[in-house]
Amino acid sequence: MSDSLVTVAYIAASALFILSLSGLSNQETARRGNLYGIIGMVIALVATAARPDMVGYGMLLGAIVPGAVIGAMLASRVAMTSMPELVAVLHSFVGAAAVLVGFGSYLGPEPKLSALELTIHEVEIFVGVFIGAITFTGSVVAFGKLRGTLSGKPLMLPARHLLNIGMLGGCVFLGWQFLDAGHGATAGASPAGLMPLLIMTAIASVIGVHLVAAIGGADMPVVVSMLNSYSGWAASAAGFMLSNDLLIITGALVGSSGAILSYIMCAAMNRSFISVILGGFGTDGGTPAAGGAKAPQGEVKATSAEETVEALREANSVVIIPGYGMAVAQAQHSLSEVVKILRSKGKNVRFAIHPVAGRLPGHMNVLLAEANVPYDIVLEMDEINDSFPDTDFSWVIGANDIVNPSALDDPSSPIAGMPVLECWKSARCVVMKRSMASGYAGVDNPLFYKPNTEMLFGDAKKVIDEILTKLRA
Ligand code: TAP
Repeated sequence: MSDSLVTVAYIAASALFILSLSGLSNQETARRGNLYGIIGMVIALVATAARPDMVGYGMLLGAIVPGAVIGAMLASRVAMTSMPELVAVLHSFVGAAAVLVGFGSYLGPEPKLSALELTIHEVEIFVGVFIGAITFTGSVVAFGKLRGTLSGKPLMLPARHLLNIGMLGGCVFLGWQFLDAGHGATAGASPAGLMPLLIMTAIASVIGVHLVAAIGGADMPVVVSMLNSYSGWAASAAGFMLSNDLLIITGALVGSSGAILSYIMCAAMNRSFISVILGGFGTDGGTPAAGGAKAPQGEVKATSAEETVEALREANSVVIIPGYGMAVAQAQHSLSEVVKILRSKGKNVRFAIHPVAGRLPGHMNVLLAEANVPYDIVLEMDEINDSFPDTDFSWVIGANDIVNPSALDDPSSPIAGMPVLECWKSARCVVMKRSMASGYAGVDNPLFYKPNTEMLFGDAKKVIDEILTKLRA
């Protein structure tokens, strides 16, 4: 393939990636967006493989074929609830690739460039390896936290900000040494800049671990999107090192969309981006937070599937709030059937989606779309929060942190300030979960003790199936 044809293919792939991102921003167009992305990636791969300077097809196939097979197997087997971990692992691969490309470019034959161009190339290598190493280790720690292998508790080292600044300063100094050493290796020996590059890689790896370890509990969504952004910049840096325009563009698209997503997540959680990055928020997941937040007061009222069916029959307006528990139970299909029946009886049924419900951005939207719930009844938090006072029945299904009133009225709560779905303002509220356990942020939930709240204990799928049978009867 000629150079100009490769350029045309790269422009087409870039345009498809942009169309893909714009498609993915809306549920109705998401499938089309995905298709554009797939076509763009196929064009990108074929054009890169067909570049006139491409040699070593055996090695290329040896890398692509096993990679594609393993990727397809993993993606087809992964449960929706494990998706965030998979995403974190994929980010770590991009980081590792940027580090390897950086070392490969540095240790490879010296490119034929002017002195200034060579310096720019070395800056690209240094910055690419730096971002790549942070992305790699940060993503590995995020994987451990999301999987529960590592504690979700934020690591609060004394003088942690000074530590970060010190490590960053060390990297800048090493960067200067690296540039000073130049590219050339004397015959048989490694280039003089290799040592500073290796030491910086080690320090950047520690920065990656430290940055992510310092963020915990309910702030993990920001970490996922932040690492998504880092992986994009790492890919872009690799594009600069390899002089591959498409990789630069794709990396910049991923980097900037990840940064915008992080901003949206921060806005949704009422956090400043800088304060989340600097860490220290959140608590260990799964157990109520020690100290700080006030213990909820009041009595817990349990209800049954029969009573819930009665309440649903009586209600004219119903708002359903799905959370992580719905994903765990895979209750969306049965729920969709229940919604069909209620709507056929003329009830106004809507879904309320919190921006960080579940464990990854858009988690609930994907599950509901999979169960064919009509898009127009799936509303974002901002669109529906004011409707609760006019709602007869709020039905919380496997959600916890996103409906926790202490976020609004208890300044000592670890999730204080995070906007939540104010379902307790409706006439009646039923919360469906298996026990009184806390959610991801490990915070007690006073909603369960409110006078108009009833708890319907059990696995979401089993209980909804029971409700469905009774509604059909
Ligand atoms: P959570 O606060 O984690 O609460 C989920 C609840 O579901 C749990 O309290 C659990 O209670 C219940 N549950 C689990 N399995 C169930 C089952 N089979 N049947 C019925 N209930 C079940 O979830 P949420 O309200 O969706 O909030 C999301 C949290 O995750 C936030 O803190 C958010 O910051 C964090 N997070 C979000 C993301 C993104 S990007 N969305 C990423 C990382 C972290 P029982 O054990 O008593 O059943």
